[in-house]
Amino acid sequence: MATHRLPPFSRPTRTPTGRPITALICAVAVGAAAACAPSQGAVAPSPAAAAPASAGVGQSTGTLGAPGIGDPDFPGDGNGGYDVRHYDLRLSYDPSSRKLAGSATIEAKAVQDLTSFDLDLHGLTVSRVSVDGAAASFSRSKDELVIEPARRIRNGDGFAVTVDYSGVPEPMHDSANLGRYGFIATPDGAFVTCEPNGAKTWFPSNDHPADKATYDFQITVPEGLTAIANGEMAGTPRTAAGKTTFVWREKHPMASYLATMTTGKFQVRTGTSEKGLPIYAAVADSFRGSLDTLFTQTGKITDYWSTVFGPYPFSSTGGVIDDYAAGYALENQTKPIYGGFSPEPAIIAHELAHQWFGDSLSIGRWRDLWLNEGFATYAEWLWAEHTGQYTADSAFRRYYENAADPMWTYPPGAARADDLFSAAVYNRGAMTLHALRREIGDQKFFPLIRAWADAHRHGNVTTQEFVALAERVSGKDLKGLFDAWLFQPKRPAPVT
Ligand code: TRP
Ligand code: ZN
Repeated sequence: MATHRLPPFSRPTRTPTGRPITALICAVAVGAAAACAPSQGAVAPSPAAAAPASAGVGQSTGTLGAPGIGDPDFPGDGNGGYDVRHYDLRLSYDPSSRKLAGSATIEAKAVQDLTSFDLDLHGLTVSRVSVDGAAASFSRSKDELVIEPARRIRNGDGFAVTVDYSGVPEPMHDSANLGRYGFIATPDGAFVTCEPNGAKTWFPSNDHPADKATYDFQITVPEGLTAIANGEMAGTPRTAAGKTTFVWREKHPMASYLATMTTGKFQVRTGTSEKGLPIYAAVADSFRGSLDTLFTQTGKITDYWSTVFGPYPFSSTGGVIDDYAAGYALENQTKPIYGGFSPEPAIIAHELAHQWFGDSLSIGRWRDLWLNEGFATYAEWLWAEHTGQYTADSAFRRYYENAADPMWTYPPGAARADDLFSAAVYNRGAMTLHALRREIGDQKFFPLIRAWADAHRHGNVTTQEFVALAERVSGKDLKGLFDAWLFQPKRPAPVT
């Protein structure tokens, strides 16, 4: 087999911590398939894989909805007592004053009797709240908007709450060593990337991925600017009195951190992929030279992933390059965004793999983040394998060789709130999948990944569910493998 060495490349992408994610320099072994190999013996199953958070299940106190959804590591995030079905967001943004004005209608279903409940909202001024058309009283406490409807909401009932608000959005800062995220103003608009809990910087929400919902967006900006949200445009933008309104609809359930209202001067190209999937690509003027490449690669890579992971989960694919130099990318549903750089294919492959793993299948609590980042990083290796750059096995070995890598002390199966987007979650997470692939073989591994994507399409997932499915599909006891790779603070025994 031909083996040659590629020059080093480094991704401009970094996590919001500012830490660059430097990709591997890998020896290429074209056509080499990963060998099947046994891993180390059984270890007691990890308690860290139990107890999923689920929508609306915070600790409830009588008829007061809980101020958190029950994520042990992010206790204030999301809320309890109800389950959001749909967000209808009417938003108007003026880049010169940086002022956002919004009216958000949230359709939800109560999962307990409610005399009061919370939404998450960071800053901004609320002028009016109504529940089912009747004015409701409200108060603010940190990032909680506490709402008392005029009438008690009964367990099981649907209700609609409308919040009118305005102000200059403030992004989140470093709350968990994450840098700046959320609604970030730019000279001509805004760069909106909200993982993990920055949706509340621009709309009142149950801001936690355990409560997914569908979205309608109606976004008004000064004429000449483009407003980009998730899903597809419903109709042609309408202009009146110097302002243009864009209507977007995401009809598939979406986690709040994947919602965006990125605005500014953009060059747009639309069309379809070879397999017929609609594509929407947009780049800030200064990246106009990258529009066609973004469009073409996005279509090609989305089509390829659909042959590996199963049917694409949404109604369109796309990508946005903004000129805000974040240096990172985010997998915003249907339209990943790249912050101030032209992404190389590996990064597009990463963000588009997230459309299956993260966006369609969403985690129910943040400590399971490896189910997003480990899979998306492994997808980069699969892309390299597909395009003949290097094999997943060579990437795995390269990382494994470095016994001093700090990822060995960070078990990726329990991502830490104070260092959520650690390289361990990405790289050791990807290594976990490769160790699994070698243990069960390609004939079981790829069907497993497709079965995983299919079984939980548009839902929430836990590590425990993945382990159970892997054992079912392979017919093997894999608790020892997963425990060593995900839950032990040391380098697992070599995979031979
Ligand atoms: N999920 C992103 C990725 O791996 C990284 C990320 C985490 C991020 N938090 C963010 C990007 C906030 C932008 C904003 O591709
Ligand atoms: Zn990622």
